[in-house]
Amino acid sequence: MQTVPDVFMFLGRFHPLFVHLPIGLLVFTLFAESMLLWKPRESFKKIIPILWLFSALGAACSAASGYLLSLGGGYEEDALSFHKNGGIALCCISTTCYLLYVLPLDFMKKTVRPIRYLLVLGAGVLLVTTGHGGGSLAHGSNYLTEFRPIQTSAVGGADRYDETALKAKASISSLDSADIFKHVVMPILQSKCVSCHNEEKKKGGLLLTSYDAILAGGKTKEGVMAGNTANSEIFRRITLPKNHKEFMPTDGKKPLTENQVSILEWWIETGAQQNMMIASMHPDKKMQDVLEDFFQIGEAAIISYAAKAPDRNNLADLLKAGFQVNMINKGSNLIEVKFNGKENQKPNLGLLKSVQEGLVWLHLTNCGITDEDLVIIGGLSNLYKLNLNRNAITDKGIVELANLSKLEYLNLYGTSITEKSLPGLIKLPKLKKLYAWETAIDSSFSMNGINAAKDLELVFKLAQ
Ligand code: HEC
Repeated sequence: MQTVPDVFMFLGRFHPLFVHLPIGLLVFTLFAESMLLWKPRESFKKIIPILWLFSALGAACSAASGYLLSLGGGYEEDALSFHKNGGIALCCISTTCYLLYVLPLDFMKKTVRPIRYLLVLGAGVLLVTTGHGGGSLAHGSNYLTEFRPIQTSAVGGADRYDETALKAKASISSLDSADIFKHVVMPILQSKCVSCHNEEKKKGGLLLTSYDAILAGGKTKEGVMAGNTANSEIFRRITLPKNHKEFMPTDGKKPLTENQVSILEWWIETGAQQNMMIASMHPDKKMQDVLEDFFQIGEAAIISYAAKAPDRNNLADLLKAGFQVNMINKGSNLIEVKFNGKENQKPNLGLLKSVQEGLVWLHLTNCGITDEDLVIIGGLSNLYKLNLNRNAITDKGIVELANLSKLEYLNLYGTSITEKSLPGLIKLPKLKKLYAWETAIDSSFSMNGINAAKDLELVFKLAQ
């Protein structure tokens, strides 16, 4: 494990303070260079080399402190190297510009000038992009645009709207306290449609940001006709074949899930009501399951459990080793880890131990996991959701999972397990869903045969 001396971190933390000096100097220098271009005065020619020298020194100090700061880890690697290279390049450009002034290069005056102006231009571009890159590293990539009044880009917009959906979900604790339109229909449309159908963009003349607008529809058709899915253009568009040119969302954007489609269908069929508690709509058992899945009701339980913040160095090691780490919920320190390594790269599972306290979701799909690896995975005692699909796992390894007392969801689709694993898995006290499609377990297998497994559902389809 990489440990960074405290004094390095101490100096590194000055980086955000430090950078403003060379930024200011560079802006001033670039300004002076443009003045020189406009009015070639001797006084400018005297002061500009000094400005370049200080800019270069300032950039060097910033780069050094930034490097120390980066040793602490926890930054997204691509963004970090972009920012780092930008900083180094700015330092080099400033130094070169200084040298072009002070070295005796009179014999090649004609070439020096255009080179210098090219460098000035480059410095201007780098100053903006590197500065912005640094801001994003420190504050997150949508820091600048997060609170802009109107969402313009589909990407930024979608992020914001997805957050709305999450908030709506988080604000309810049980199905009974949820409103079908406000907590379910709106968040679905917000996450999948509103990026193109908002006040700004209004594709097809359709606005999907309010109840009235949704019903009214767009240029050609009514959006939703209460009680009538067949005449609801919105419903028609989301249920067309995915390659149909009128299918929504367009442009290869993520389509609605099967559950989301059935929720919208149910909402329209039951009268497309605006203010209606789900409880008073009496959903049948199947609809209840779908809605609980939507609200991730079961998952609310873990959200109330908080872990110690994972160590930044450990997280950095995980990222380096090809894992992707997501925070599940701001403030709780619970994390979801996925392995995103290259093909044929096996994950270094030993690293997971260092973050096991907050590690509740683990996805290790098709990455060469074998029975031996399950010893480590079986020790990650806070796991709530575990995906081991499409790995060469057998009944022998499954035994190692016996201590995962919080596990609720286990995906073993496409592994080599057989019915022999079931008695052991049934003993996992919290296990609710076991995905067993394309295993040696027959899809007609009935759990009734093996005692009181009333809460464990065997699922024989692809997990969503
Ligand atoms: C990537 C942008 C984009 C996204 C995301 C998107 N749409 Fe559209 N939508 C369009 C465009 C462009 C049109 C106009 C062309 C057309 O009618 O096919 C349109 C038209 C429509 C229309 C027809 C309006 C009318 O009366 O002519 C409906 C209904 C619709 N969209 C519903 C949806 C729904 C529901 C979603 C979310 C599941 C969605 N759209 C997501 C771009 C998008």
